[in-house]
Amino acid sequence: MKVLVTGGAGYIGSIVTEHLLNNGYDVTVFDNLERGHREALDPRATFIEGDLRHANVVHEAMARVKPDAVMHFAAYALVGESMQHPERYFENNLGGGMNLAAAMIRVGVPKLVFSSTCATYGTPSRVPIDEDMPQKPDNAYGESKLCFEKVMTWYAQRYGIRNVFLRYFNAAGATDRLGEDHEPETHLIPNVLRAALGRNPAVRIFGTDYPTPDGTCIRDYVHIEDLAAAHLLALHENIDGPYNLGYGTGASVRQVIESARRITGSEIPCEDAPRREGDPPALVAAGEKALKVLGWKPQFTELDAIIESAWRWIRQYPEGYRTSV
Ligand code: UFG
Repeated sequence: MKVLVTGGAGYIGSIVTEHLLNNGYDVTVFDNLERGHREALDPRATFIEGDLRHANVVHEAMARVKPDAVMHFAAYALVGESMQHPERYFENNLGGGMNLAAAMIRVGVPKLVFSSTCATYGTPSRVPIDEDMPQKPDNAYGESKLCFEKVMTWYAQRYGIRNVFLRYFNAAGATDRLGEDHEPETHLIPNVLRAALGRNPAVRIFGTDYPTPDGTCIRDYVHIEDLAAAHLLALHENIDGPYNLGYGTGASVRQVIESARRITGSEIPCEDAPRREGDPPALVAAGEKALKVLGWKPQFTELDAIIESAWRWIRQYPEGYRTSV
């Protein structure tokens, strides 16, 4: 089975690519390397360097590969930036996505697996969040992902494309070779581990007065290997629709820091800081649909296992992919 992976040099896309290749899929990566890393490209995959915002380039790639399915990861994914520059998010995430969809229709690709997000739900009225809850994003990033889900839902009706929308909660962790390397890094776990290495100053805890047991925000951290496994299940012919990918258990910012202290043996200096704009107090998945319908069997549901894998990777690549090993 041939799969075209957009964003296969990025954090989640590169790790899913590795899993696809390990399971015998024929993979072509399409990536502009703007925020991804050449070092994260898997040498077993064919690589096409291109930008989704260039419709003709996307169409040529699609016509050349004629994939059985597209997995679409390429996108901007910084909530703060999306509020400062919403146009970037709509041009790239929605506009680029629409070029991809148009090329799929012209070439007749029957299946899309889309990298969506729990940010499409905004601040939920209750947790855990199931797939039928209202989608009301709080930021332009979440809105750009939701818009693309909607476009694809209409295209599915007209053109028969089977869409799988995988709404990730907080992707975290690493494989032996591939991990999280963003610049700037805004995510909690890599920042905590950079502080453990002495590469970052004290971790700033954004908000300590939330209505949660310890006052800090709760998130459903999901191991990247479990996310990757869900993508392979999503390729099955009879699977479509939205799936929340989370374990249904949350960890607070303080619990993440405690776990990282245990694993790294480092003190990890912290300081209380004001709330970060747009952060909901708690985001936890109701993951039953993924377990029952997709047949997802998560393996790494312990927070310590996630942080341990991220710690192994960051120690091997203390400067991210720029580290020569
Ligand atoms: N946090 C800190 N200090 C930090 C970094 C984060 O206290 O240095 C807190 C945040 O305020 C938040 C929690 O840690 O409460 C997790 O923050 P992350 O930035 O790691 O992740 P988010 O929950 O903000 O993730 C959101 C959405 C994802 C989306 C992602 C995009 O939940 O779906 O933003 O980057 F993909």
